[in-house]
Amino acid sequence: MTLTVSQLTVHHGAIRALNEVSFTLAKGELGAIIGANGAGKTTLLRTLSGLVKPTHGSATWNAHNLLKGKPEHLVRNGISHVSEGKAVIPELTVAENLELGAIWRRNKKESSVSQSEIIEIFPRLGERLSQRADTLSGGERQMLAIGRALMSKPELLLLDEPSLGLAPLVVEQIFQTIRNLTTSMGLTVILVEQNAMGALKIANTGVVLNLGNVAISGSAPSLIADPLVRAAYLGY
Ligand SMILES: Nc1ncnc2c1ncn2[C@@H]1O[C@H](COP(=O)(O)OP(=O)(O)OP(=O)(O)O)[C@@H](O)[C@H]1O
Ligand SMILES: [Mg+2]
Repeated sequence: MTLTVSQLTVHHGAIRALNEVSFTLAKGELGAIIGANGAGKTTLLRTLSGLVKPTHGSATWNAHNLLKGKPEHLVRNGISHVSEGKAVIPELTVAENLELGAIWRRNKKESSVSQSEIIEIFPRLGERLSQRADTLSGGERQMLAIGRALMSKPELLLLDEPSLGLAPLVVEQIFQTIRNLTTSMGLTVILVEQNAMGALKIANTGVVLNLGNVAISGSAPSLIADPLVRAAYLGY
């Protein structure tokens, strides 16, 4: 099982947000997509989720063509997308938000991830099951957004800037949890991040986007060691 993205090109009107983007990711791997504001990172995830239609190129996961079909078929195909900005339903409690994730799972007969498994991963959610999502801290809300995505038992998880606005210690914790998920659940993850160093440290593969182009891609350790990546994105 592999994710194969090939020559993906996306226009937003006259703006070319992605230009011939290609990369592959094997099952159980974590791929970090890094790059400056406006580089095309969110556009890439939204295209893989079927929310944005590409001008040309292809993207397949498990023999599924990601670019055909409707976004609502995603979950059925084993894909979960956590969008930028801690997407939870503010008026609902932690428990209710988690339940929604289970409703969206692919196949009712197939065992879903239980709420208790999510609480094992994020103990802080367990202490707050009846608390409304809009009263959670930023970090807790991000944990809930990821927890809800995991309830559908995905095979491919698309994460858009999970570290956004979080304190360094919380970021560290969330990154470690994401890393552990690839091992414990065999999950394949695409992690979009401004926090390039944090993301590359836990990733297998890295893709650097610059104005919609793949500037550099390769194994995460090789990117960390690359003087150009260090100067432009890692700040040392
Ligand atoms: N719906 C849209 N209509 C027009 N332009 C868009 C649209 N969505 C994105 N863009 C433009 O496409 C480019 C890439 O945007 P994108 O959101 O993918 O960047 P990003 O790498 O996620 O940036 P950030 O780190 O700030 O989240 C930007 O120039 C943006 O203004
Ligand atoms: Mg973005």
